[in-house]
Amino acid sequence: MGVVEPYKASSPAEGRVAVTGRDADRFNFKVPTLRNAEMAYPYFHDGAADTLPQAVDTMGRVQLGKRFTPEENAKIVAFLKTLTGDQPSFKLPILPPSADKTPRPHPFDK
Ligand code: HEM
Repeated sequence: MGVVEPYKASSPAEGRVAVTGRDADRFNFKVPTLRNAEMAYPYFHDGAADTLPQAVDTMGRVQLGKRFTPEENAKIVAFLKTLTGDQPSFKLPILPPSADKTPRPHPFDK
């Protein structure tokens, strides 16, 4: 977050930098799916945007350097609402089983 315009948040989350310690990862958050975004409010990692128009406005400014007119914003929101539909259902793969002696992962070792 903050590709074009500096990102300011009122919550303390700093993104991936909290795990890697690399300054380049500050405010680096996973991009969530936009499928069913209409039903997924509030938006962003900390729920800072209450509505889709607010989220679109933030995206335009912070990620693209654009200030959408109300009409443009409404068209983008209308588009996002076309992504509303059934949740995908998929078969979970059978992974090799773990046992007592399976080495444990250490994801946070540096
Ligand atoms: C008009 C263009 C765009 C629209 C309409 C848009 C829309 C959205 C929406 C609705 C969300 C919130 C999803 C949720 O919380 O469930 C979101 C999140 C996000 N988008 Fe965009 N986006 C746009 C452009 C971009 C661009 C250009 C980038 C990157 C360069 C980007 C990166 C992200 C990231 C990283 C998040 C998650 C942020 C967080 O959790 O704090 N988006 N986007």
